[in-house]
Amino acid sequence: MVSAKDVQELVKSKLKGYKFIIVSNREPYIHMYTPDGVQVKTPAGGLTAALDPLMQATGGIWVAGGSGDADRENVDAQNRCRVPPANPKYVLKRVWMSKNEVDKFYFGFSNQTLWPLCHNVFRGPVFDKSFWSGYKHSNTLYAEAIRQETKGIDKAFIWFHDYHLGLAPKMVRNGAPKKQKLVLAHFWHIPWPTWDTFTLLPWAEEILDGMLANDLIGFHLPSYCVNFLASVEKVMGIKPDYGTLNVKYKGRTIHVRPFPISVDFDTIDKLARNPGVKREMKRVRAPQYIPYKYIGVGVDRIDYTKGILERFRAIDRFLEKYPEYQNNFVFVEAGAPSRTRIPDYMKLNEEISKAVDKINWKYMRGYWKPIIYIEGKLNPDRLFALYRTADLCVVSPIQDGMNLVAKEFISANVDCTGALMLSKFAGATEELEDAVIINPYDVEGFADAIKDTLDMSPKEKRRRMKSLRSHVNRNNVFKWLSDFICEVAKFIS
Ligand code: F6P
Repeated sequence: MVSAKDVQELVKSKLKGYKFIIVSNREPYIHMYTPDGVQVKTPAGGLTAALDPLMQATGGIWVAGGSGDADRENVDAQNRCRVPPANPKYVLKRVWMSKNEVDKFYFGFSNQTLWPLCHNVFRGPVFDKSFWSGYKHSNTLYAEAIRQETKGIDKAFIWFHDYHLGLAPKMVRNGAPKKQKLVLAHFWHIPWPTWDTFTLLPWAEEILDGMLANDLIGFHLPSYCVNFLASVEKVMGIKPDYGTLNVKYKGRTIHVRPFPISVDFDTIDKLARNPGVKREMKRVRAPQYIPYKYIGVGVDRIDYTKGILERFRAIDRFLEKYPEYQNNFVFVEAGAPSRTRIPDYMKLNEEISKAVDKINWKYMRGYWKPIIYIEGKLNPDRLFALYRTADLCVVSPIQDGMNLVAKEFISANVDCTGALMLSKFAGATEELEDAVIINPYDVEGFADAIKDTLDMSPKEKRRRMKSLRSHVNRNNVFKWLSDFICEVAKFIS
């Protein structure tokens, strides 16, 4: 098993002499004003959860957009602060954007153009020139922050994350002094669509040109790598080598590689065994909370790609088709609202509330109701107590690059009593063969699968969960990091 310490050693030996910089839009720690003073929160979402352990192990600088209302008051003159605040291990440098800049860059081009385009889930991407200008402008702000941090430095390794920063690599490379040795890499945390979908984007060529300034480009799955290379071939007329997954551009060879992201298995496994979790498990099962035979759980950032409405439709059909489970089965959904300024997301929040209300009204009997909807992010004790108590966890995206909730549930299910139901459209499905695979669009099949999973013998559940746990344990987030760093090391001289 690869550990945090192994990655720390690897970074030390392979990136010797290189300044280490990570760049993402989302920051790992957010300073917020609360009635009890300034508090530091961590965001929902896989990217920061995956990279924070690396940065804590290796140190370095993380450049990210400031997003908390108390963020500006908690940085120095270079817009830096040390994090995690309780036990500082690395530097967070914040990039400031005005509300108008965030509207165009984050809510606009990133999440109304690239997000739906890459997920290709029947939501029309918005192709708006002002979003595109805002995206270009915000990428220059990130490039400038990186320039400040690399000024006077001989060598730096800069690791970009996600679809918000498609142009920054080229800006950084072009703006660097000739003598400076920069190794640039990018991990794209969402799917890359097929070339015919990607080329709908009027600015397809500029995005590819920006990305190809990297030395290494990583995706979760081999199919996303191939889709990316095919987009390069169609848009730029360059023939990539599909065998090696390399492409030559402007005299450099760019490596495009799959690296399936994961979670910190050991830490989650340990946290899930905390005494606080045990206490919380008793509370979950108490007569005044969920004293029913079966519990299902879903945990999501509220997003139309996550298939939450599809999941509720299947639960509705399941209770209708198998009425013996009424008064016996409760599904707890914890949904953290996100991107709520975007109309599609506002609408989804309303649709979710309406669906919960409709289904609960249809079936409720006395104290029992089938769905408990918790809006917001659960604290770790409550989350892990639910993961350990649940008979099943449903992860049903209609499209998802990977989905780390699936791997988090597996890592926390220390008693091997739960089963994972996983959409065939989640990247994680390629690895997690012992999950119960469902199609979220197939209401009948999904409803039947809920019944079959609840009826599964404890022995079979245990067998599947043990094998899933062993897979995630072997392929943890540190393996992802070390594989990525080893590939980057090929460009280090
Ligand atoms: O899963 C894709 C992703 O962009 C992650 O990289 C990120 O952690 C998550 O979605 C959260 O999105 P946002 O930063 O918009 O809240």
